[in-house]
Amino acid sequence: MSWIDDKAHEGLELVRQVQKIDLYPHFRPFESGGLHTTIEGKPIVNFSSNDYLGLTNHPKVKEAAARAVETFACGLSSSRVQATTTAHVELEERLARWYGYDACLLFTTGYQAMVGTLQALADRDTTLILDNLSHACILDGTFLAAGTPAQAPEVRYFNHNSARSLERCLKTKQRDNAIVLMEGIYSLDGDRAPLKDFVEVCEKYDAVLLCDDAHGTGTLGERGTGIVEEAGMLGRVPIVISTFSKTFGGIGGILLGSRDVVDFVKHNARSFMFSATLPVPVVAGASVILDMLEEEGPALVQELHQKSDYMRTNLTQLGFDLGMSDTHIMPIMCRDFRKALFMHIGLLENGVMMVPITYPGVKFGEERLRLNVTRGHSREDMDRALEQLDRYGKAFHVQSGADLGPMDNLFA
Ligand SMILES: Cc1ncc(COP(=O)(O)O)c(C=O)c1O
Repeated sequence: MSWIDDKAHEGLELVRQVQKIDLYPHFRPFESGGLHTTIEGKPIVNFSSNDYLGLTNHPKVKEAAARAVETFACGLSSSRVQATTTAHVELEERLARWYGYDACLLFTTGYQAMVGTLQALADRDTTLILDNLSHACILDGTFLAAGTPAQAPEVRYFNHNSARSLERCLKTKQRDNAIVLMEGIYSLDGDRAPLKDFVEVCEKYDAVLLCDDAHGTGTLGERGTGIVEEAGMLGRVPIVISTFSKTFGGIGGILLGSRDVVDFVKHNARSFMFSATLPVPVVAGASVILDMLEEEGPALVQELHQKSDYMRTNLTQLGFDLGMSDTHIMPIMCRDFRKALFMHIGLLENGVMMVPITYPGVKFGEERLRLNVTRGHSREDMDRALEQLDRYGKAFHVQSGADLGPMDNLFA
């Protein structure tokens, strides 16, 4: 045993304690895909999925992926530089048209799209300005650029969703250029960004606005193209990054921008050039979902919003605190580590899965359950979730906010 084993063992103390009392909530293996699956043979409805339009399991998507396996297999054994197919190029062109941008580049994950784009674009003449609740991919792309010798952009943070705080950063930045990083919808809080205000501030200071719209794709805007469409800002947000891992039912990163910017990233993003190509079966599945969005996007998005409205009205009537949420992402605020874990277990025992979000995902005292309403949830699914939430919420004083008593004896 070396120091590395000791270090790992020590670092896993909390995980072991929670596992010992059967409260460990992560890595539970699903036995099939989709919102309705089983865990250890027991049916569950997944309310922590990002399959926002419920299309991941659509038979046409699976058929297209299966057909693509016949032609292209599961992988191309190389990076896009050497292994690009007509399927990748066609989908990039179609996505650019659908979103309303000049060009699109497909990465293998959304995380890689963000990290690679920031590493490619941010140099010593750049200040990166981030919302202080930014997703890990934005933070990691920033840290990578900042830690790359000879690149080292300046890094600043603005208060969450505050255009005034952003303006203060822009006024005092020390480099000539600025890239402002924000998200369309924040996945842990379910609140959306004041995009128009950000656009106006960025235009005033000639800063480039980069919007990560992973959670807005398929959920915002009449056609479902996201927050840029919803806010009427098409043509005024220079770069958008999104993903196939939510509405598009698979995996993959989407970069949208001008032809030159996209081509520059294509030739400089290390996460694009030095990592394997997006498998064609995934491209084929996403392409079928894009057909559906083109043909019936407004109806699909409307149905999601109707379901979200139903859930929000009922959760509010039951007295739940939904934090800052104003979208289909509605965290059930527990504000206590134990309440979040106990709620999760109680719900799961009754076939409803809502994953607890605890430190370091959120600050201490901000613990919550991840509740995402999707178009794939039926009225019956939602009613069952509401019934169980009410039952366990009352048992663990979630709605009333009452204290559960001292923390000390949890692991005794
Ligand atoms: C806001 C945001 N950006 C980027 C990503 C990363 O996307 P992917 O899952 O495609 O790597 C996620 C996914 O968790 C996300 O929530």
